Amino acid sequence: MAIYNPGPCKLQGAVPIAGSKNASLPLLASSLLFNGELKLRNVPDLIDIGVLLNLMRDLGSCVVIEHQQLSLTHQAQGKAPHICPQKASKIRGSVLLLAPLLGRYGEILLPLPGGCHIGKRPIDFHLYALEQLGAQFSLLPQGIYGHLPRGHFTGGHIIFPKPTVTGTENALMAAAVAQGTTCIENHAQDDEVHELITLLQQCGVAIETSEDAIEVQGVGRLLTPPPESFEVCADRMEAGTFLAACGITQGDILLKYRRCPGLETVLEHLDAMGMSLSLNENGLHASVLQPLKARSFTTAPHPGFPTDLQAPFLALNCVSDGKSVVEETIWENRFLHAKEFLKMGAQLEVMPNQTSIQGVRELHGAEIQAHDLRGSAASILLSLRAKGPSLILGAESHFERGYSFFLEKLSRLGAKLEKTTATRLGAILEKQHA
Ligand code: EPZ
Repeated sequence: MAIYNPGPCKLQGAVPIAGSKNASLPLLASSLLFNGELKLRNVPDLIDIGVLLNLMRDLGSCVVIEHQQLSLTHQAQGKAPHICPQKASKIRGSVLLLAPLLGRYGEILLPLPGGCHIGKRPIDFHLYALEQLGAQFSLLPQGIYGHLPRGHFTGGHIIFPKPTVTGTENALMAAAVAQGTTCIENHAQDDEVHELITLLQQCGVAIETSEDAIEVQGVGRLLTPPPESFEVCADRMEAGTFLAACGITQGDILLKYRRCPGLETVLEHLDAMGMSLSLNENGLHASVLQPLKARSFTTAPHPGFPTDLQAPFLALNCVSDGKSVVEETIWENRFLHAKEFLKMGAQLEVMPNQTSIQGVRELHGAEIQAHDLRGSAASILLSLRAKGPSLILGAESHFERGYSFFLEKLSRLGAKLEKTTATRLGAILEKQHA
């Protein structure tokens, strides 16, 4: 399915920000380490979440969703359950089953995970980290086979070659149930990781964090879930995407959420570009009262500029005043959207790890191709500034993985977007003029 946009609009109004996808995925996986029912609130309704929940059901977990609360209870199986390769290969989040299944069953055969085609997506850091805690792995044709010769994780010292978000999350889950103390260095400091740390601390796992290291006192057994349900923080990537949308369309938007940690870098960036921002008890009010100044940025591990907001903020630079350079240091293939923006009249030059941009005030609609989750959302946003109709091919299959009710939310803010089976913009226009 493609997304048809008849023309430009200024986005105005209030938009609710859903729960964080990348915080929810490790929390769901961690439920395998609990004896009892783990209750979560504010888990977003997304394709990637649904794929992981289906995998959990296959593994013997009972999943109940009622009154905005998601409850997970794992019924222990006699031996390590089978993981469906077709499902596991759909999302990156399946890599988060590695530590919990090892911690629960002492062995696992994990089909290689999937995810956006933004880079190779290796898992060597995950295997290295769990090996420091006593696991042994071998690569089989069906995937990665891992087991714990001692039957449990043992505390150890992990020094990641570079920060890895899901790698740190796997290490934390293993360390929590290990016998002994684990020190994790060069870990990812993303707020999504801190959500998992907070949940584990609420289960009685002693965890000390600093910029340099995380120290975990393993409890040496499965965990007892907290009595209260845990509320997942709002999704800072969705919030950042709507902030970029406000800038691109020179709009006026109130982002509604209760708790959205980790936006500091993005808010400083937008303030320097000239966006008007004010935090209040309902969330964050953003408006564009003057032409924005383009600003260069380089993606980096948290608290650096988040790579998952590179595409929407590159799009924002395309229609802001002046020159800028966007450098991507996390993923080796995350500029496919920039090449599509050229078709709308954006003035930019794409090089392997950076794109230089000359901002313009005018773009024109075009037929463009979506390639990945964040790039497809950014392409839709940029089409909201372009004069004339646009068709974004293949967008829906990407953005629905990471943005809940994305089209509905944009439509409530004034966009006139619609899903279509059309594969050519010309065909739509011919039909309109027939
Ligand atoms: C998480 O992916 C996010 N996904 C990604 O968001 C995000 O882009 C990324 O972190 C940012 O670092 C989830 O949390 C589900 P990494 P992850 O391990 O954990 C290299 C989105 O749009 N690396 O932090 O898979 C890797 O190649 C998605 O929501 C290894 O070399 O990423 C990359 O260069 C896209 N070996 C860097 O580390 C490994 O074993 C950071 O990757 C692991 C990673």
